[in-house]
Amino acid sequence: MRTEKPIQRIALAYSGGLDTSVMIPWLRDNYGCEVLAVVADIGQEEDFEAVREKALRTGAVACEVVDLKAEFASGYLFPALRAGAIYEGRYLLGTALARPLIAKAQVETALAHGCDALAHGCTGKGNDQVRFEVTYRTLAPQLRVVAPWREWDLRSREDEFAYAEARGISLPVTPENPYSIDQNLWHTSTEGGVLEDPAMAPPDDIYRMTTDPADAPDEPRVVEISFERGFPTALDGARLEPWHLIETLNEIAGSHGVGRVDLVESRLVGMKSRGVYETPAGTVLRAALRDLESLTLDHATAAYKEGLSTRYGELVYQGHWFTALRESLDTFLDASHQTVTGTVSVKLFKGTCMPVARVSPFSLYQEDLATFGEDAVYDQKDAAGFIRLWGLSAEVRARVLAGPAGPAAAHAPSASPTASESMAPESTAPGREAVLSG
Ligand code: ARG
Repeated sequence: MRTEKPIQRIALAYSGGLDTSVMIPWLRDNYGCEVLAVVADIGQEEDFEAVREKALRTGAVACEVVDLKAEFASGYLFPALRAGAIYEGRYLLGTALARPLIAKAQVETALAHGCDALAHGCTGKGNDQVRFEVTYRTLAPQLRVVAPWREWDLRSREDEFAYAEARGISLPVTPENPYSIDQNLWHTSTEGGVLEDPAMAPPDDIYRMTTDPADAPDEPRVVEISFERGFPTALDGARLEPWHLIETLNEIAGSHGVGRVDLVESRLVGMKSRGVYETPAGTVLRAALRDLESLTLDHATAAYKEGLSTRYGELVYQGHWFTALRESLDTFLDASHQTVTGTVSVKLFKGTCMPVARVSPFSLYQEDLATFGEDAVYDQKDAAGFIRLWGLSAEVRARVLAGPAGPAAAHAPSASPTASESMAPESTAPGREAVLSG
């Protein structure tokens, strides 16, 4: 028995695929409400007019297509790139970054059209339900949430077709795609089908954004990426809007086979899953930015950021985009990346991408300091005192552990105590004064 008041109008995050198409009549039947289809254009290849027609034909009262490409690139992808966000060391988070934005646009559209509820097409086994619903609850806790996959008893494509047909809705029977694919401006993610066996290599024909590295051009291509404060601004000297830069670089890097990853990941809901990702532009931009950071960040800041990248990746993966932690980390990065400005040349060749040259007005690399030749700034004699102090604690500890026998005894192979005793007679151990006299 539902005790809440009945839903009048629900906004469904609609893709035009089979599942969300069947959800339109299902929501009408089961909740007796109007369904507003909200379609996010997030850079996927799609005929949005056809998607709109399909939504209306299957029973939606209206369909809104929202163009999110620019906001996705500048407000989500580039901040995550600057943060070095990555999950479990390899996943560049293309799906995870899209979800909070799609959910936000859905909430805004829902409120603008007087909806009192939200629905999405995610299954009850994945990460995406969490990412959508955490965003809903953060931005519009007053709206009710319906997740048909967790409620209905349709278990197969056949069930779904039969359900629609019984309601006089004909859905074109498309050839069954054996994979679950999620595509946007940043990546294509492919899961399911034969990929469910992690012991099997992915079939060659699953890739959509990248050429097989073996078939990529025999000539390398060098691209120049310019950054300002950690954000990409130009490609080969031409200033481009973020989404346009990504789109253009996807073409170039994809044609050289760059950006493929095949991995097993730990889902938020506890299980391991296997996925194949193609993130061509993201892979190149990440390599270029890291290279520029080596030139412009001091060691301590860069090393600190390394840990932050992992944490940032985790929070994105786990649906915590709209949180104090993400905002706070971005504030840190605003400060740390003030000087991460410059240009990096990256060589693309048969699936690899390698930074080969870099320049920055804030370069910390000073040729006169690093040179092996003569220089006036650095006095080599200074190094001796530095080394004594730098190694002091290690030296003291070794002395203490060694006891009266001297430091060599403590580090000698334990199997030959007699040898070590003879190697470090008490009389020849360096005197304590040598360390402590200064
Ligand atoms: N496992 C990835 C994530 O959780 C992608 C999920 C969606 N991809 C898909 N092919 N259905 O971010």
